[in-house]
Parts: sequence; C-alpha cells; structure tokens
Amino acid sequence: MKALILSAADRPLEIRDVEIPALSEPDAVLVRLEAAALNRRDYYISKGLYAKIQYPIILGSDGCGIAVAGHSEWLNKEVVINPSFDWGENIAAQSTRFSILGMPRNGTLAEYVAVPADRLRAKPKHLSAVQAAALPLAGVTAYRAVMTQGGCCAGQTVLITGIGGGVALFALQFANAVGAKVFCTSGSNEKLEKAETIGAIGTANYRNENWDKQLLEQTGGFDLIIDGAGGEQMNSLLSLCKPGGSVVSYGATLGAVKNLNLHRIFWKQIRLQGSTMGTDADFDAMLAFAERHDIMPTVDNVYSFDNATDAFARMEQGQQFGKIVVNISNGKF
Ligand SMILES: NC(=O)c1ccc[n+]([C@@H]2O[C@H](COP(=O)([O-])OP(=O)(O)OC[C@H]3O[C@@H](n4cnc5c(N)ncnc54)[C@H](OP(=O)(O)O)[C@@H]3O)[C@@H](O)[C@H]2O)c1
Repeated sequence: MKALILSAADRPLEIRDVEIPALSEPDAVLVRLEAAALNRRDYYISKGLYAKIQYPIILGSDGCGIAVAGHSEWLNKEVVINPSFDWGENIAAQSTRFSILGMPRNGTLAEYVAVPADRLRAKPKHLSAVQAAALPLAGVTAYRAVMTQGGCCAGQTVLITGIGGGVALFALQFANAVGAKVFCTSGSNEKLEKAETIGAIGTANYRNENWDKQLLEQTGGFDLIIDGAGGEQMNSLLSLCKPGGSVVSYGATLGAVKNLNLHRIFWKQIRLQGSTMGTDADFDAMLAFAERHDIMPTVDNVYSFDNATDAFARMEQGQQFGKIVVNISNGKF
C-alpha cells in the first residue's frame, strides 16, 4: 500500500510502498481509508518537535474509511476512528498508557490502517468521508474543552482564540449550537470575517494593539474562554475573564507564560482548567452532538494523496481556516 512515511529525524516525509498492516491484535479491523485529516501534532512530529518520536512512522490521527477485514460487526461499513487509545478509568484525566493514533501506532496517512474494533464508530450520516475525517481529534478536543470542562450553556458570553485553528472552529460551532454568545480572535481579518459567517457575533484581531480592550468594550468580559495559543497573551485572557469565570486551555502554540498573573486568578476566582482530547464518552457525545446539530466541519483545503506533503506545507504557512484534509482514495466529496 501507499503510505506517507517519516523514516528518520533528518528525512522529509515521503510516500512509499509498504506492507498492508497485519491484523495482529485479536479484535483488529483493517480500514481502507477514504480520507485523513491533519492536526498540528502531525506537523510538530514531522519537524521533530514532539516528545519520544519513533521512526519509521506513518502519521495521521484522523481518518474515515471502510472496514474491509477483521471483526465482522464493522465489515463493509463506513467508519470514523476514535484516535484516543487507553484513556483509562479516570474520566478527569488520561492514564499514563494513553496514546494517540499516528505515533507510536501507525496512523491514517496511508491506504490502510489497522485498529482495534472498539476504536470504530459509524460515520455520521450527514457528512461526506472528507468532512467526517476532519472531525475526530479536533472535534473531541473542542467538545471536551467547551462542554465537559467548560460547561458551556445558553446565554454565556464565550471567547474562542485563534479561530483559524481546527479545534477553535469546532469550539465556535459547538458553543454556538448550545446558544452561547460567541466571540473570537484571529491574526487575520479575513478569517474573522469568515468566522462571522458561521456564527461569531464579535471579533478582534490579536495583532492589533488594543484587541483585548476592544473585546472588553464589546462584552464587559467573558464567562468562558477557550484557548489553544497560551503564551504571554494568557494574562490578557485572565483580564478578559469575568470574576468567577473559566479559562480552558487545550494548547500552547505560543509556548509557556513566563509571568502568569496569579493575582488575577485568585482575586477574580477564575477557574483555569486544562483539557486534552477526551474520553470515549466525550467522543461518542461529540459524534451525537454533531449529528443532532448538523455540525459541518470547516474544511480548509483537500489534497490528493500524491500531494500530501503540500498539506503539511499549508499547515506550516498558518494560512488555513479549518481542517486540512487528504483525500486518500481520490473519492468525490
Ligand atoms: N490538548 C489537546 O488534546 C490538543 C488537541 C489538538 C490540538 N492541540 C493544540 O492546540 C493548538 C491548536 O491546534 P490546532 O490543531 O487547532 O491547530 P491549527 O489548526 O494548526 O491552528 C493553530 C491556530 O493557532 C492560532 N494562533 C496562532 N497565533 C495565535 C495567537 N497569537 N493568538 C491566538 N491564536 C493564535 C492560529 O489562529 P489564526 O490563524 O486564527 O490567527 C492558528 O489557526 C496546538 O498547539 C495543538 O498542539 C491540543
């Protein structure tokens, strides 16, 4: 089969012919992939910027395809894959055995992937294979951050940072669907205009000097802030958070906060909550929520498998609005 392989730290990603994965686990299912989507994690690993990278590896945590061998319940059905493995018993946090499809286990940027049957779910009926591939990792991360950890509900004023990101866009759609008043930031006015077309009621460009003051004037503060950027801007988010409000952090694209303003956290009684991907229950709730509310993943660009390395270049440029997808089987979408 064709697979996008990262073979060594000093080698670029390349498409190679490799063996179709063996069904070595008793409950394994072979999925013929129709589409796979990229996450920032894939990009970080491809650049050597991730802990404990193993080579060679087929990247890709998100996939939609057809089960073609193994466990009979799924045979010939169109499925999406839950990319979380071994979350464990504690719903508050993942176990030390937790791992993500696409390293250390070979992932979805290939014609076939083998996964345990319990990682499979029926493809949401309202989505094409390309749209469904865009949903799993970013969808479950956004769902847990907004709903499970953030407790988002109707009437709340919510801020989502960096709206061009895959997780951020789902966060906007989920918060919107429950009836929250959603605002967002981006470094691009074009992305902010697009965000307004999918439900943001107010925006600010974080490249403008007074972006935080603008948001404060528009809203009087936020009940809930969903952030994947981190960095020094976290202190502005603490200023924007209402007393008694919550900041949920699911990422740190801008790195650590050197001078975190603890005074703001304790004086305003702010709840600073971390969030990572989600339990199997979060994943199932996310799929059900997406079907119930007709959530359509925002797909930035679709690349053919032969041009999969261009998909990584697109992520590197940071121009994307939504998910970058690879159409593995060259099917219609
Ligand atoms: N904890 C988890 O389970 C989990 C899961 C998925 C991702 N993550 C992490 O979350 C982050 C986002 O992931 P993703 O896959 O959604 O990434 P992505 O699709 O590559 O998007 C990254 C986004 O970061 C935003 N950004 C850049 N500079 C910013 C700034 N100064 N302020 C606010 N936003 C800024 C950009 O927004 P604009 O283009 O709009 O400016 C960009 O679209 C990454 O750090 C990733 O590692 C964590």
